[in-house]
Amino acid sequence: MTILIATEKPFAAAAVNGMKEIARKAGHEIRLLEKYDSPEKLIDAVADADALIVRSDKVTAKVIEAARNLKIVVRAGAGYDNIDLEACTARKIVAMNTPGQNANAVAELAVAMMIFMSRNQFTPGTGSEIKGKKLGIQAYGNVGKLVAQKAKCLGMEVYAFDPYVAAEKMEADGVKPAASLEDMYRTCNFISLHIPATPETRKSIGYDLVTLLPAGGCLMNTARKEVINEAELDKALTDRPDIKYITDIAADNQAELNEKFGKRVFATPKKMGAETAEANINAGLAAASQIVDFFATGNTKFQVNKW
Ligand code: 3PG
Repeated sequence: MTILIATEKPFAAAAVNGMKEIARKAGHEIRLLEKYDSPEKLIDAVADADALIVRSDKVTAKVIEAARNLKIVVRAGAGYDNIDLEACTARKIVAMNTPGQNANAVAELAVAMMIFMSRNQFTPGTGSEIKGKKLGIQAYGNVGKLVAQKAKCLGMEVYAFDPYVAAEKMEADGVKPAASLEDMYRTCNFISLHIPATPETRKSIGYDLVTLLPAGGCLMNTARKEVINEAELDKALTDRPDIKYITDIAADNQAELNEKFGKRVFATPKKMGAETAEANINAGLAAASQIVDFFATGNTKFQVNKW
């Protein structure tokens, strides 16, 4: 079988080598499309692929239509909002993710963001410490749990809100379950977002929530830009000159936010949460292994589209 790795933002070389080795041992061939600059290049490259591995690359209905031999697409990572699941399902193409594999890298970035913002983006002047501060984790999944663990080690008081996770599970980790999302925003100095982009969460973080933050509060986004109502965030930052926003996924109006709010906002130049050699190796190798296993045994354990 032909497995295409299509990554506009390439994996570390060690990850690609490992993926090639996994495929070779199982008798499959890997093809690479890296740093491509137009969707057409992916559409061309996918034509004869039996399997596709991507990161945040957009697997649109057009890509699926062009991939006449495609049987499986694996998002090497957690969020699969970049894959047109309906188009996959219509062709009975299995779509999978590799949950948890890059979670530690994203969690470490979230911790770094807290310190970076507490120290005025490493510019001169008096900053503050995160020890003793309150952190609220919105969505207690693979990343949220790791952020909680690390923050606790740094002496923070950690809260979490997740309607899909039992309070007892949070308590067992020494995390305080928030009574409501609003309560968590009202209580915490930092809020770290770990919700996926779904129809329910899109634009769900807006003025009413953000302005609940206590004085000097900071919202941190290592999740998706789509979950933010950007116009309302702008208004919240305008009306509350004490609050801050840091994101790993630049807002569509980021230039405007930077201009208006200076050092109170920060966006990484390119999404870097999962940009570690370790995360690339974990997620890349998992993706390759899942494909090999799917072709060998039909294993669909990590399938995210069902029919
Ligand atoms: C994910 O959903 O796994 C993360 O957002 C990482 O995305 P990336 O592979 O594009 O860096």
